[in-house]
Amino acid sequence: MKLVKKKIIVAICGASGSIYGIRLLKALLEKPIDVKLIISSSGEKVMQHETDYKTQDILEFLKKEGVRLHPDALLEQYEQDDLFASPASGSFRHSGMVIAPCSMKTLGTIAAGIAGNLIHRAADVCLKEKRPLILVPREAPLSLIHLKNMLTVTEAGATILPASPSFYFQPETIHELVDTIVARILDHIDIEHHIVRQWGE
Ligand SMILES: Cc1cc2nc3c(=O)[nH]c(=O)nc-3n(C[C@H](O)[C@H](O)[C@H](O)COP(=O)(O)O)c2cc1C
Repeated sequence: MKLVKKKIIVAICGASGSIYGIRLLKALLEKPIDVKLIISSSGEKVMQHETDYKTQDILEFLKKEGVRLHPDALLEQYEQDDLFASPASGSFRHSGMVIAPCSMKTLGTIAAGIAGNLIHRAADVCLKEKRPLILVPREAPLSLIHLKNMLTVTEAGATILPASPSFYFQPETIHELVDTIVARILDHIDIEHHIVRQWGE
């Protein structure tokens, strides 16, 4: 049965690059999409360090930044330890989950099949229910363990979409660079967008 409205789970972890998660939220909430947001406790700290965002009232910040929220968009935010929340259950049907940015800790936890918090559990559910799971890892350099974990989650059905922006459209700002990644994320969860041209357009 097809979902009437798209529901996307977005998780923001404590890797550098909270801006990817924030930009993704903006893009999703400009469409009639239900967004379920989980920010890890490290994700909150890194976001506060790297951006002006306060994780408690993210919607107000998005509005202040002039995001044109779609009237049918919905944002629900959960605590990372709320294992009673809907994304923790396989019976909650949705269109996919994106972890952007994804830390090596969360990557490793998912690869090990440990569902310790709501982010890990929701990702674990995606894999067992064969729903799209996009991880946007950020680390440099990558150890053998990181690479093996990426292989493991890929074999289990996830997509590794590294936070490595492209330069072929000659971006001039950080925002344009970030958009090159967010555009690929949207492509992978089948959401139409015009934030970056397609090559050859
Ligand atoms: C400023 C800052 C930047 C960090 N950047 C990264 C990073 O790019 N990649 C990474 O894997 N971990 C990074 N870390 C470490 C993670 O925050 C740490 O491993 C944390 O436990 C991840 O928890 P989480 O996956 O639950 O969010 C960073 C930490 C800090 C304080």
